[in-house]
Amino acid sequence: MPVHKIAIIVGSLREGSINRKIARSICALKDDNLDCSIVEIGDLPLFNQDLEQNPPEQWVRFKEKIAAVDGILFCTPEYNRGMPGVLKNAIDVGSRPYGRSVWDRKPAAIVSASPGTIGGALANHQVRQSCVFLNMPVMQQPEAYLGHVNDESFDENGKLKEGPLLGLVEKLAHAFAEWVTTIHEARAHLERTARG
Ligand SMILES: Cc1cc2nc3c(=O)[nH]c(=O)nc-3n(C[C@H](O)[C@H](O)[C@H](O)COP(=O)(O)O)c2cc1C
Repeated sequence: MPVHKIAIIVGSLREGSINRKIARSICALKDDNLDCSIVEIGDLPLFNQDLEQNPPEQWVRFKEKIAAVDGILFCTPEYNRGMPGVLKNAIDVGSRPYGRSVWDRKPAAIVSASPGTIGGALANHQVRQSCVFLNMPVMQQPEAYLGHVNDESFDENGKLKEGPLLGLVEKLAHAFAEWVTTIHEARAHLERTARG
């Protein structure tokens, strides 16, 4: 399998975030041909359509980073049964100007983690809803609503401890690597076919 460059977008800005720790644990996985790095969203000015013609440099840099990768992995908490505002802002920033969305056709997967029982499932599906509209092929299985995650789930280096949760995250990373490969191969095949 080819190596894929993946941008991980974390929907929490706090340093001790369990979603950030999950993202870092995924970055540390070695055997899946995923070259992951977290793309920060905390410095993005709030989306304002008036700024589209003369966009803030943070928007420009963010969009360049997203345009350069092969796939997107969202790791997000749930805030009040929805996705955090910072994440929706980043999605909106990347989606405009109309017709020049950087999300278009990027394969994606969504992880949500929470100390609660339902693992941020509603935030997860809000992100999925936006991804579907933005023409991003979103991996369907395995779903990753990670419930009962807390500081105890991680070791002193902030990485997931050995156990079922790490097993699930490894399975997800493996499936995502296959998903990104499948989407890119399918697109290349279609382009070859169209050229004749
Ligand atoms: C504003 C706010 C709203 C929250 N709403 C939810 C919620 O709807 N569902 C949930 O499972 N947890 C909720 N929580 C608890 C978060 O899941 C918990 O704080 C989690 O650790 C945040 O993710 P992070 O560690 O990645 O920052 C909320 C927390 C905050 C600060």
